[in-house]
Amino acid sequence: MPTKHTTILVTGCAGFIGSQFVLSFKERFPKATIVGIDDFSTGRRDAVDRSIIFYEGSICDGAFLDTVFKKHKPDYVFHFAALPRISFSVKHLSRTTDVNIGGTVSLLEKCRDYGIKRFIFSSSSSVYGNNKELPTSEKNSIPNPVSPYALHKYAGERVCRLASTLYRFDTVCLRYFTVFGPGQFGDSAYATVISAWLTGLYFPSEKELFLEGTGRQSRDFCYVDNVIQANINAMLSEKHFNGDAFNIAHGETTSLLSAKKMIEKFSGKKLNLSKRPIRPGDVKDTHADISKAKKQLKYKPTVNFENGLKKTIAWFEQRHAGTKQ
Ligand SMILES: NC(=O)c1ccc[n+]([C@@H]2O[C@H](COP(=O)([O-])OP(=O)(O)OC[C@H]3O[C@@H](n4cnc5c(N)ncnc54)[C@H](O)[C@@H]3O)[C@@H](O)[C@H]2O)c1
Repeated sequence: MPTKHTTILVTGCAGFIGSQFVLSFKERFPKATIVGIDDFSTGRRDAVDRSIIFYEGSICDGAFLDTVFKKHKPDYVFHFAALPRISFSVKHLSRTTDVNIGGTVSLLEKCRDYGIKRFIFSSSSSVYGNNKELPTSEKNSIPNPVSPYALHKYAGERVCRLASTLYRFDTVCLRYFTVFGPGQFGDSAYATVISAWLTGLYFPSEKELFLEGTGRQSRDFCYVDNVIQANINAMLSEKHFNGDAFNIAHGETTSLLSAKKMIEKFSGKKLNLSKRPIRPGDVKDTHADISKAKKQLKYKPTVNFENGLKKTIAWFEQRHAGTKQ
């Protein structure tokens, strides 16, 4: 259990999941010290919590990491920093490889040098590729990356496993399925569907509304609080994971067309979507078997898609109301 002597390092603390994680973590463990790093490549300055110790810099910069690790000697590292998004990695192959694989390796090296307890890696359901087994379990579905981003995440998992075999600290890999929730801004060209549609709905000047493919593709959408819970459970566990990977999702699947209908119902607004082709590297359906995480991580998703969507819409409405004042 974290005490006033516990220090955690959160990489990517200015991003969507990292910033929401910091908010929940400090509420749950107010005595622990939180150190955050981010280089703002996709993160936002206003998302960095003012109460944490923050360093601006890159996970690819070994000398920078050395200064941070030497000064704070973290017990646990939560590694959220990455250049995410499949289509971005298809376009920017070497840059995303440097950050997503090279940055992860640099961090693991410092974890070895400064004797941390456990490294908690943000992996992704994309490692499975177009897997035929649905719901997908870790045991029966061999990873088959079909994009550079998916390959980076799978390589990250393997390096985690190797590091905890070779060195004296533990690692665990959490394969998140499409995450959504408050704090996710959908104004980038690479935004995921829920945040992109809600941005187009509430802030039409920031995002064009479109649907890729038929809309019959489906996702196991996972509300961000469930992901945060999984990270905290991974830290608290007495087990030795040795790089083991766990699906983190809700365990239910929703088609994009159903998601559209629900957004229209809860927001009272009509989503007028133009049609676009599917992006290369995108998979058709995702649906997780989460029984392994339930059993070994005591993971229990508490917010389902419908309730998560209502909370996310409330956050967009609040922001929208703020811009009108
Ligand atoms: N959002 C999802 O649906 C989802 C699904 C599966 C896995 N993931 C993984 O979860 C993690 C967090 O995702 P997110 O949605 O919050 O993404 P995000 O883009 O909002 O956050 C990533 C953060 O990492 C920072 N970063 C990027 N390169 C960096 C570098 N070289 N040095 C330091 N900081 C750097 C960015 O500035 C940003 O603040 C990522 O590792 C992502 O691959 C996300």
